Amino acid sequence: MSVAKKEYKRVTVKSLVEMKQNGEKISMLTSYDYSMAKIVDAANVDVILVGDSASNVIAGHETTLPITLDQMIYHASSVVRAAKRALVVVDIPFGSYQSDSKEALRSAIRIMKESGAHAVKVEGGMEIKDSVKRILQAGIPVMGHLGLTPQSIYKFGTYTVRAKEEREAAKLKEDAKKLEELGCFGIVLEKIPAKLAQEVAESVSIPIIGIGAGGGVDGQVLVVHDLLGMTHEFNPRFLRRYMNLYEEMSNAISKYVDDVKSRDFPSTEEQY
Ligand code: KIV
Repeated sequence: MSVAKKEYKRVTVKSLVEMKQNGEKISMLTSYDYSMAKIVDAANVDVILVGDSASNVIAGHETTLPITLDQMIYHASSVVRAAKRALVVVDIPFGSYQSDSKEALRSAIRIMKESGAHAVKVEGGMEIKDSVKRILQAGIPVMGHLGLTPQSIYKFGTYTVRAKEEREAAKLKEDAKKLEELGCFGIVLEKIPAKLAQEVAESVSIPIIGIGAGGGVDGQVLVVHDLLGMTHEFNPRFLRRYMNLYEEMSNAISKYVDDVKSRDFPSTEEQY
């Protein structure tokens, strides 16, 4: 279904709710640096997520746990400088909001003040409700994240699909309702059955953005390195690759090495 799109000079949390109401799907993509964010923003992506997946794709860690608040702020401030249209949402990293709500607020304030971002994202439901409430009370927009929450990977043990069983699905539905009630402006649902994700999207008025959660939700998010095919060894079923940048970059760089070795580069036209 094609939907008449409203032009947004700057996407806000209110615009996202409006998009849901108008049946316009929301596009969200990660970025961690200025150059990538400039391209993503110019392509009219609605929301740029400075995800703690930077811990994986930028720093090379196995999980998202090691990335620090200072590192997230550094990535976020680079992205904010590039984003002229998109709403910039920043993950509060593991260990910066779970111990108590005061710490959560302090972390959210640092992100907003030092990076200039527009909103924060946190993983979890009822367990972190006090933190969510406190951040919201300070006037900072909060996005939730349910389903597969990578900061809890050691509790889950694997990155497989979550909430396939009724008990977990029921808790997820309750958590989504609770996050809406608290005042979150949207929720990411990661790697859960499509039917459940659609049910959640239909049960709340705030936008539900899916990753591996099917097409029945209000928008989609991917890690930009995955979409571009830079992380060629990562092949989950939900991922659609739009190019094979790993191969294209490898070929270009190998050609450069050959050209340097063979003295083809630089040519006389490429020097002063
Ligand atoms: O950190 C991240 O990139 C995320 C997305 C996968 C939603 O949280």
